Amino acid sequence: MRQRRALLYIPGADERKIRKAPTLDADCICLDMEDGVAASRKVEARTTVAAALRELDFGRAERLARINPPASGLAEEDLAAALAGRPDGVVIPKVEHAADIAWADARIAAAEQAHGWPAGGVALIAMVETALGIVNLAQIAGASPRLQALIFGAEDFAGDIGAIRTPAAWEVFYARSAVVTHAAACGLQAIDMVYIDYRDTAGLTAEAEAGARLGYTGKQVIHPAQIAAVQAAFTPDAAAIAHARRLLAAMAEHQAAGAGAFSLDGKMIDMPLIKAARRVLARAGLSAED
Ligand code: COA
Ligand code: MG
Repeated sequence: MRQRRALLYIPGADERKIRKAPTLDADCICLDMEDGVAASRKVEARTTVAAALRELDFGRAERLARINPPASGLAEEDLAAALAGRPDGVVIPKVEHAADIAWADARIAAAEQAHGWPAGGVALIAMVETALGIVNLAQIAGASPRLQALIFGAEDFAGDIGAIRTPAAWEVFYARSAVVTHAAACGLQAIDMVYIDYRDTAGLTAEAEAGARLGYTGKQVIHPAQIAAVQAAFTPDAAAIAHARRLLAAMAEHQAAGAGAFSLDGKMIDMPLIKAARRVLARAGLSAED
């Protein structure tokens, strides 16, 4: 599965911003038809997104389109327009039921067949950002093999449950943690909430690193200035890689000597820490042998 450390939204009706996409070094560009677009410009955004997907070269970035929610009355035509541009993936917001995933899955499969594209090649990413979506996470996360990632939407979720957002984000902690847990249970990536104060790089870095510690594999961003800090926060640094390597080497020695748990720098090391070390290397795109 491809890396999605920073997922950048670009409002679908804003051609100037869309044309910037190829120059921005984001893992993932998401052309938005939903909340980044005024109600009066939804149809225009649909056309602009479809044309951009067809005509623009996004370089190494993944090309995603976010449609309007399944219950909005706009989703059917949004999805058809997105698919006409052959996106790498489709993002469905405000997913609340497994049926929302099944609906998109069937439309995408039909488009793949009609165009002769490889079956299962267009990815599906679900946003969970309502109380009902969180309660139904187990069905949503397992709804389709096409599903590759879950996105947590903190602002919508807070609005839905009547919480007031704070920088520490404890009011959304249960949901934020539930999303990453269900994603892991189903082998999906987990993409963390937006940091809306886009001029505050220190705050963004702290929140991105906290998300990475929770198990998130990436984060949504809304401004080009957020990309580098977020991608760095979801990439293990040299110290973390060196530590993981040292731990795996010590484990190999102790295993050869017949020891399971062992001590390193006065700390007990056993299988869970070994697994975590392997995960660090995997995130860095390395294996224990590299
Ligand atoms: N994608 C691509 N380019 C962007 C961008 C984005 N999301 N946000 C800003 N830029 C560009 C601007 O166009 C500007 O370039 P320009 O001067 O050549 O026009 C440059 O980056 C600096 O932008 P800045 O002036 O600091 O911000 P702004 O006032 O133009 O835009 C926002 C601020 C918040 C409106 C804008 O970042 C945005 O639209 N973000 C995405 C919102 C969204 O999609 N929300 C829904 C998902 S949560
Ligand atoms: Mg939202």
